[in-house]
Amino acid sequence: MESLFKRKLFDLKLKNNYRKLSDVKGIDFSSNDYLGLANHPRIKEAIVKALQKGLSIGSSGSRLLTGNIKEFQILEEFAASYFSAESCLFFSSGFIANYALFTTLPQRHDVILYDEFAHASIREGIRASLAKSIKFKHNDLISLKTAIEKAASLSAKTIWISIESVYSMDGDIADINDILRLIKNYPNTYLVVDEAHSTGIFGINGKGFTYNLDYENLITLHTCGKALGVSGALVCASQDIIEYLINKARPFIYTTAESPIIAVAVQESLLILQEEVWRKEKLLELISYVHKNYSVNLNAKTQIIPIILDDELTATNAAVALQDKGFDVRAIRPPTVAVSRLRISLNTNRTKEEVDDLFENVNLILRDLK
Ligand SMILES: Cc1ncc(COP(=O)(O)O)c(C=O)c1O
Repeated sequence: MESLFKRKLFDLKLKNNYRKLSDVKGIDFSSNDYLGLANHPRIKEAIVKALQKGLSIGSSGSRLLTGNIKEFQILEEFAASYFSAESCLFFSSGFIANYALFTTLPQRHDVILYDEFAHASIREGIRASLAKSIKFKHNDLISLKTAIEKAASLSAKTIWISIESVYSMDGDIADINDILRLIKNYPNTYLVVDEAHSTGIFGINGKGFTYNLDYENLITLHTCGKALGVSGALVCASQDIIEYLINKARPFIYTTAESPIIAVAVQESLLILQEEVWRKEKLLELISYVHKNYSVNLNAKTQIIPIILDDELTATNAAVALQDKGFDVRAIRPPTVAVSRLRISLNTNRTKEEVDDLFENVNLILRDLK
């Protein structure tokens, strides 16, 4: 008899929604290693040195038990001062951190307001949260204001607003200053900013758009697997919020702490960010070059460039054709996004010649497909 999951897989294939793991090859216009740190020799050396000095590979337990290895605390203290936050807590991934934030901090009589383009990790956290939630239109201040007023009319004890400073699939930027001006009128409102795609690249010294912002109820998330080239995530917030997460966040408590090797690697990566400023500058120059020379994503000037396409098939065919030409470009399709697209990402290792070559091929391939 045909198994249930064989049938489900067949359905996915029929709907052109079937995914499979594939090899990574071609010129990288797809990864989130925006600053080219994932292979940095200094990070490798820092790990080797720490291991030679006796650092263990496994953490051996939860952070609340034997897993609280000093490298995590050193990193958290360093990161708090780096991002000018009162306190900081390391999580094993950005997904887990978002899930922990939205399931731990807002509770039954609270309301979460979230941008309609919120990342899956935020949505999963909201789905599992006891708080009510209201979606607002993408990057739309008026829609956010309407949502705040609706939350107030529901007698929300506290209101939690979730935004991303750079949106992962559209590459556009939230206007955090406008949002702050709006929400300062509403008491008991918290702002959670996911800086996954801006950490290392934007804001003063690449410290993100939230660096030095004057707002007491601000929580920021800096993922470490993108521009920082490692993995994990740093949540920055007030001392009270961090202590509360340590006490109550189940995805932080009921899991073996990450390998301390990762803490050593992230710390070295933050040091490199400070010292090798040319990486960020080279990327910013490449971003300007692309946005000046190609009519792409005029809404935003970031390293993430979506090329919106009519349908899923065109997106997958275009990606395959580009891969055949030697470019690592992927199609992003529903349900990840509402509208299919190629998601091109720039990184420090790319040259203007490679970018020209890519866009020439994109134009030719899309012309042929249409
Ligand atoms: C906006 C955003 N937040 C969180 C995450 C999850 O981070 P991580 O990959 O570290 O789990 C991602 C990953 O793509 C993301 O784009």
